[in-house]
Amino acid sequence: MITLGIETTCDETAIAIVKSGKEILSNIIFSQADLHSSFGGVYPELAAREHLIRFPSLLDLCLKEAHLSLNEIELISVAYGPGLVGSIQIGLNAAKTISIALKKPFVAVNHIEAHLYAAWMSHDFTFDPFPALGLIISGGHTALVLMKSVTDIYLIGSTIDDAMGESFDKVAKMMDLPYPGGPKIEQLANQGNPHHIPFKKGTVKDNLYAFSFSGLKTQVLYAIRDQKGLKEDIAASFQQTAFQDLIDKTKKAFSQFDCKAIFVGGGVAQSKTLRTLFEKEELPIFYPPPLLCLDNGVMIAGYGYEQFQNSGQSPLSIEPVPRIPWKVHKKEI
Ligand code: KG4
Ligand code: ZN
Repeated sequence: MITLGIETTCDETAIAIVKSGKEILSNIIFSQADLHSSFGGVYPELAAREHLIRFPSLLDLCLKEAHLSLNEIELISVAYGPGLVGSIQIGLNAAKTISIALKKPFVAVNHIEAHLYAAWMSHDFTFDPFPALGLIISGGHTALVLMKSVTDIYLIGSTIDDAMGESFDKVAKMMDLPYPGGPKIEQLANQGNPHHIPFKKGTVKDNLYAFSFSGLKTQVLYAIRDQKGLKEDIAASFQQTAFQDLIDKTKKAFSQFDCKAIFVGGGVAQSKTLRTLFEKEELPIFYPPPLLCLDNGVMIAGYGYEQFQNSGQSPLSIEPVPRIPWKVHKKEI
């Protein structure tokens, strides 16, 4: 089944064509990062307008790369949230329109769950990896989830304030580094001492697996203001604290929930430093290739195909959902 995947929940206009959930025929990602860099984050109205302007030519490019015509598309999948309403609306309307015009089924998927699908689809398993732990670490979201299958997902813990990528972006802004800040912080941190400042990790009352990064961000702000070290050392210490927090909670959840694998998704999963730190733990951890860590249409097409196999079409009446509530695992945590 040839699936068109459309992703416009944030600042990437991404369109892809995937065959039978795994075979990538084309993958077009147009990043708006340059447009938003001077704002230190995504400017919602500009993002929506840019999706609208870029969409038609990117769709043409996507079809050309796959050597297909629009008529050969058999399923249309789109992310209906979470994200920025105005941005989601552009992709969602485009997907509905194409579905109606082609008389082909339409499926709307959860963007965050699709990030985990990106990790799953990128590996061939010789064992059943479920139940698995899912780790979503992006600019907009940070969550630890229990995956009973690739489409049956339950929240274990999420951030109560900033997302992990967002905290990197905010710290970068404090250091006058452009958006997206994660890679810039990593570069700077490579020259610094990660143990220079013993920053405190964020803890959340009543949930061992929840995250909080705003306190860490404030500690970094004071360290910069009080010149507690070189920028390189502050960046390295911040990065070390945030990643160690993630690793500690992941390890704990992995054993408590008897998981067989860990799937990681989201932009922060691109970090070489994080991957090196995780390697030392010798866990069965699976990442997408770097290009599929970021927002992309491949994961939307693939996950849409999977969801369509399990539960069929979505109603065309579906609207953008800025925050999609999680199913919560009932075991006491
Ligand atoms: O997945 P993504 O496109 O964002 C959302 O879907 O929300 O990822 C972008 C985020 C940005 O916050 C960026 O700073 C972060 O991923 N990021 C990193 C690294 N590379 C990207 N954060 C830390 N270290 C990195 N190497
Ligand atoms: Zn994302």
